[in-house]
Amino acid sequence: MLKAVILAAGKGTRMRSENSKVLFNVAGKPMIDYVIESSRNCGVDEIIVIVGNCAEKVMEHTKASDIKFAMQKEQKGTADAVKQALEYINDDDKILILCGDMPLIKSETLKEFIEKSEKNINFISTKTDNPTGYGRIVRSPNGDVIKIIEEKDANENEKNINEINTGVYFCVGKDLKERLLNVDSNNAQNEFYLTDIVKGGAFAYCCNNDTEFLGINDRLQLEVASKIMWKNRAKEFMKNGVSILDSDTFYCDDKVSISKDTIIYPNVFIEGNVTIGENCKIYSGCRIKNSIIENNCEIRDNSLIDTSFIGANSNVGPMAHLRPETKLLGNNRIGNFVETKKTVLGLDSKASHLTYLGDSQIGNNVNIGCGTITCNYDGYNKYNTIIEDDVFVGSDVQLVAPVKIGKNVIIAAGTTVTKDVPENALAISRTLQSNKENLGLEIKERNKSIKEKNA
Ligand code: UD1
Ligand code: CA
Repeated sequence: MLKAVILAAGKGTRMRSENSKVLFNVAGKPMIDYVIESSRNCGVDEIIVIVGNCAEKVMEHTKASDIKFAMQKEQKGTADAVKQALEYINDDDKILILCGDMPLIKSETLKEFIEKSEKNINFISTKTDNPTGYGRIVRSPNGDVIKIIEEKDANENEKNINEINTGVYFCVGKDLKERLLNVDSNNAQNEFYLTDIVKGGAFAYCCNNDTEFLGINDRLQLEVASKIMWKNRAKEFMKNGVSILDSDTFYCDDKVSISKDTIIYPNVFIEGNVTIGENCKIYSGCRIKNSIIENNCEIRDNSLIDTSFIGANSNVGPMAHLRPETKLLGNNRIGNFVETKKTVLGLDSKASHLTYLGDSQIGNNVNIGCGTITCNYDGYNKYNTIIEDDVFVGSDVQLVAPVKIGKNVIIAAGTTVTKDVPENALAISRTLQSNKENLGLEIKERNKSIKEKNA
């Protein structure tokens, strides 16, 4: 059987965090998820994750039918970590060893490595301009691998070696067990180094793409890895016909689909499960999370869209807030400073300015005037507002829920609706206006003379 061992027990000291390093998000997803995915895609039958630091959280997050966990109680080094997996490893198993902190690793690379492995112990090395922090590969004059020397144990000459250990190994169970017996902790960190299994002969498969093997030890490397991932996703979308005006500020999770001829302006966040149709425009500063946006929509600047559905030909924002369970059925307009929650807007309906719509079902062809508020909450419970087709709601209307507005109704501006309105009616509630002749001018003059006296 081909089994992967993923090391994820370390303290991640350089992160300076209370949380597990391997659960830190890289471009929107915990880094260990990428490593697990790549292992699965290269054909492993079983994965053994070594847990220790924040073990409960790591197990809770990664548990799956093909994953076993081995506990490393004390973090005594990478070789000690692998030892904990031995109870699950048979002599004839093939073992792929990976670190949980290398999210950019690709399954194709792992496949190739396994195919090209020549010896009982094999590992991937790569050449890099900046070897700082990595183990260096020390070779004999004829090219054989002698040892891997960690940065902290290396002398000046060794530090200048630019071929580094990526931390990916492939070996046969029996050989792994034997080599682990010989590993001691006589080194600068008093740790049991997994790198010592190469002593006694190993094949280094030297890959020429060093970015794939970036190990995330601190938050600077975390940023670097996220940026590479986001940039790769942007490239993929662009190849498929999406315009991304600035791929340096395109922040997009991996479960996102965007169709052709859509344009993404700079500084857009797309999180979770998101589908964006064809020919949309997503302007700067928008954050779109777990939502569906159909074809030909425009999401204008600085809008937040969370767990919502936006039907075709709709136009949202700028500065709109679509909260969970908003459904715009199509050809809708949601304007600036409009907030919606648990609200359905039928075809062709609009709320163009300064409005709150919560817990409401709104029919087709309804106009919601500027400043309309559904008063859905009495401090204890939430209530529904129902507005049927072809209703015109004037500006500054409060709809005190629960309330139902029949079809074809007009609600006059400034009305506070406290009871249901039957279809075809006009609803109006206003105090009568009175005009006091010349009083405006008199007040202005009075104020002016008071101001002059006080000056
Ligand atoms: C390790 C390698 C180094 C290599 C680099 C690649 C060793 C001694 N060094 O260094 O040669 O260039 O990876 O990125 O192996 N872990 C445990 N238990 C422990 C210690 C670590 O599970 O007791 C896990 C960590 O959670 C991490 C992985 O092992 O996922 C690697 O540990 P880390 O401390 O990051 O090793 P590096 O110093 O990066
Ligand atoms: Ca590391």
